[in-house]
Parts: sequence; structure tokens; C-alpha cells
Amino acid sequence: MIGRLNHVAIAVGDLAAATALYRDTLGARVSQPLPQPEHGVTVVFVELPNTKIELLEPLGAESPVAKFIARNPDGGIHHICYEVDDIIAARDRLTESGARVLGTGEPRIGAHGKPVIFLHPKDFNGTLVELEQA
Ligand code: CO
Repeated sequence: MIGRLNHVAIAVGDLAAATALYRDTLGARVSQPLPQPEHGVTVVFVELPNTKIELLEPLGAESPVAKFIARNPDGGIHHICYEVDDIIAARDRLTESGARVLGTGEPRIGAHGKPVIFLHPKDFNGTLVELEQA
């Protein structure tokens, strides 16, 4: 059911410093910062040959990433995103198997303008999993 790894998201407390690390030290191609108030984050996309890394900095008081940074001051892997062909079919199959979808259970439009859902980390080896319709 799952396809390609779309991205790995890393929460950071200092987006400028994290961007410089990937751009200057690791030599990666990075995007301009993209504020996404509806998701409570500012994102920088790091383009790798086979996937992307997303650097997430909290944006706003209600940011879910702010709590993560409070628990992990050095930052850390926040979630991984797999592609699926049909997000509704994937959601229904997963919920039938007992997995929990976060929020209302309805797909939202994610950082790339495509429908996404998030799956509870307790059901996936302690890892927050995002599914994105390819
Ligand atoms: Co993501």
C-alpha cells in the first residue's frame, strides 16, 4: 500500500541555523522559508536526489511543533511521510485494522497542496506517520 518516502520532517528551534547547516555544511539545495500558519510551522524544504527533508520551525502560540521543541530542545525527527495512491482507501484500510488517524480523520491539504492524514505514533513504533496522496 505505501509507496515512496516523500519526506522526513525535522523539528528545529532555529530555522536559520538549521537551514545553514544543511546548505553550507551538508551542501544541500534548500528552499526559502515558507510560513504555513494553518499548520503552525514555517518550513524549509531540503531537496535530496531521492527524497526531501523538511525543516519545521514552530509558528504561532498554538503550534503543535512548539510542544515538540519544548520536550526536545535540540530538535529531532518529527514525522515521516509516505506516499499512497488513494488516501481514502488507505485511511479506511488502516482504521479497519485498528490504527488511529489524528484529528477528524478527514484528509487535510498538506504542505505540498495534496491531501494528507497523520497516524498516531503509538500505533507505528513511536513514529508520527504522515500519508500523502501521490
Ligand atoms: Co510532512
